[in-house]
Amino acid sequence: MAYSDKVVDHYENPRNVGTLDKNSTEVGTGLVGAPECGDVMRLQIKVNPETQVIEDAKFKTFGCGSAIASSSLATEWVKGKTVAEALAISNTEIVKELALPPVKIHCSVLAEDAIRAAIGDWKKKNGQPEQAAPQHD
Ligand code: FES
Ligand code: FES
Repeated sequence: MAYSDKVVDHYENPRNVGTLDKNSTEVGTGLVGAPECGDVMRLQIKVNPETQVIEDAKFKTFGCGSAIASSSLATEWVKGKTVAEALAISNTEIVKELALPPVKIHCSVLAEDAIRAAIGDWKKKNGQPEQAAPQHD
């Protein structure tokens, strides 16, 4: 399968690979897996407690090129957004940006789920009600 230029770029130069301190109350960790292929994605956010702006994001993904590109893009997109704004990111935007073909759509779903899981973890740590379950197309 031919990957789009943007997938190849994120795959060859992934942004924000790494780990944040999962014990910090400012950090939320999302760990999700795709039943379709067994790929696993971990995405972490660091949230400013005063402004609720996501100041840092890191990921580690064991999976295909599209999953790596989706998580790399997701970390770029959440940085600088508030938690509420980041929750609005949908996998369809990732599909569009990376020009993912239909068989790779679940890779983008993994990235959306990872963002939501990271935010959910952060909310739990900070005594906030968790958001509703995601609605995928
Ligand atoms: Fe190879 Fe997902 S593990 S395509
Ligand atoms: Fe399963 Fe990409 S995450 S093929």
